[in-house]
Amino acid sequence: MTGTNRLPQIALGNGGPAIGIQGLGCMGMSEFYGDTDETESLATLKLALELGVTMFDTADVYGMGENERFLAPFVQANRDRVVIATKFGYARTPERQDDWSLDNRPEFIRQAAENSLQRLGIELIDLYYMHRRSTDVPLAESIGAMADLVAEGKVRALGLSAVSAEDLREAHAVHPIAALQSEWSIFTRDIETDIVPAAVDLGVTVVPYSPLGRGMLTGQAFAENLSAGDARSYFPRFSAENRAANMRLVAKIEEIAAGQGVTSAQVAVAWLYAKARELGAALSPIPGTRSRKRLQENVAAASLTLDQAVIAELEPLAQEVAGIAI
Ligand SMILES: NC(=O)c1ccc[n+]([C@@H]2O[C@H](COP(=O)([O-])OP(=O)(O)OC[C@H]3O[C@@H](n4cnc5c(N)ncnc54)[C@H](OP(=O)(O)O)[C@@H]3O)[C@@H](O)[C@H]2O)c1
Repeated sequence: MTGTNRLPQIALGNGGPAIGIQGLGCMGMSEFYGDTDETESLATLKLALELGVTMFDTADVYGMGENERFLAPFVQANRDRVVIATKFGYARTPERQDDWSLDNRPEFIRQAAENSLQRLGIELIDLYYMHRRSTDVPLAESIGAMADLVAEGKVRALGLSAVSAEDLREAHAVHPIAALQSEWSIFTRDIETDIVPAAVDLGVTVVPYSPLGRGMLTGQAFAENLSAGDARSYFPRFSAENRAANMRLVAKIEEIAAGQGVTSAQVAVAWLYAKARELGAALSPIPGTRSRKRLQENVAAASLTLDQAVIAELEPLAQEVAGIAI
């Protein structure tokens, strides 16, 4: 498949702002996935907007504020076209880099939002996610604090990340939730059982994160080239033992992709749209990339249709993956 059409747009949640049916994950531009090239990352952001990607995904914890700071000039320069999504929830700071504890207290949420607004240099966060739920605080209390930010005009829409269907329903009863962000890919399919159906029921947009399995689904070449400082070296699915088993599964995806004349990354992205259609979900996956070439490839996959025989071949793979997703 060659060429890229401008992406179709959908409403975020129930009647929210228009977003492209694919967003861009910006995390790797600042942390976790090895060396980054800011010039190419910025060029990728600009091209994304031209291609109809409008939702840009970050979090205060990515680079401990660095990712938001990096995005700030781009967001400001394109304020009326960009839907900026950020997240709160981790206590981690530059002074406490290893502190991955969660904080969902109202006062923490308020301060986190102020910090994100300041780093981004904007007046309003378009989509504000609870990154992870902490059971130390009643959910309704945290959602209430998030709803206050909406009432004050500091946040436009609310999102939740990696919550259960029950939590999604409970939160939605306190304040409409526009987006549910969770890991969803050919290799990680837990949310299909009851979380996606709950989102469909409530009119919540589903935003799959790590749709390329943190890069693993893109193929052999990718997995062989992890640099020493890459956080994925510590993830269970990338451990030496599990990686070998998982790459045998990826080889099947590469084979399917070759048969379709596309790349395995494109099969992974197109598979999500096929599943979303099957489940009736409004979808905007956020593949992460720092390269214009890969961005074009991922965007092009939004208009690729996989036939049922291909879907059936991919169906058993998730059951065979070695190592948990984190
Ligand atoms: N809510 C959460 O808890 C959570 C957790 C994780 C991630 N996220 C969000 O989701 C976004 C995406 O997830 P992710 O970055 O973890 O994983 P991903 O999108 O599954 O994979 C990203 C990796 O794939 C590579 N890649 C992208 N497109 C490619 C292509 N066409 N061909 C070959 N390689 C390709 C990227 O490399 P290059 O960058 O070098 O192109 C990067 O190494 C993140 O950026 C972040 O915003 C959220």
